[in-house]
Amino acid sequence: MIRFENVCKTYQMGDEKVKALDHASLQIGEGEFVSVIGPSGSGKSTLMNIMGCLDVPDSGSYFLDGKLVGQCSEAELTRIRSRKIGFVFQNFNLISRMTAEENVGLPLIYQGVRQPEIKRRVWDALDRVRLLERRGHKPAQMSGGQQQRVAIARALVTEPVLFLADEPTGNLDSRTGGEIMEMFHQLHEQGNTIVLITHDQQISLQAKRQISIYDGKVKEVWE
Ligand SMILES: Nc1ncnc2c1ncn2[C@@H]1O[C@H](COP(=O)(O)OP(=O)(O)O)[C@@H](O)[C@H]1O
Ligand SMILES: [Mg+2]
Repeated sequence: MIRFENVCKTYQMGDEKVKALDHASLQIGEGEFVSVIGPSGSGKSTLMNIMGCLDVPDSGSYFLDGKLVGQCSEAELTRIRSRKIGFVFQNFNLISRMTAEENVGLPLIYQGVRQPEIKRRVWDALDRVRLLERRGHKPAQMSGGQQQRVAIARALVTEPVLFLADEPTGNLDSRTGGEIMEMFHQLHEQGNTIVLITHDQQISLQAKRQISIYDGKVKEVWE
């Protein structure tokens, strides 16, 4: 499903060049649950942004389902992002003036889905993260763990096949983080592909396969 071949990405920081990804090569098959572990600044978010078609490599190739992403038009990339991929971020990225129900419905509005189908699917998504009764709450009225569950509902409402999570438990205490990990395990059991980025070894070990990243270089971790 995912294939990186010698992907490089360099950022200019003043006079200095930072190799955020340095000849990264890896493959992830459909239905895998993979964690990417590395310290702060090692290139994890850069890797995720390229995987999620939010950014493109400077050199090397990224194939998603056999398609060379670098050759896709902007319209195709938008379509891939909205149909295939569910994103979950460390800071939840919810819209503060919107209720849980409105936040989760947003991707469906972008896809042109109409009421009452939106309502049916949003309620189903909120039910799956056990927050249906909180649908009228705004982010500030919910705990961090609940906000992240709303974000997961927003990611799964479009029924993507690939979930990309960038430090999804990074802002949560370990018990709440455990609840969030439980949701990713469920999504994996339902056949989804999960790529979960973390700097936390305990979280990383929960994945079936671990990839490490250090100074932009990726390596398989064999237990
Ligand atoms: N937009 C950017 N401009 C300049 N440097 C960047 C940018 N994004 C990332 N970097 C640099 O690239 C390296 C990898 O960053 P990142 O992928 O965010 O790492 P991580 O997510 O593992 O903390 C870091 O040294 C970071 O400072
Ligand atoms: Mg990061």
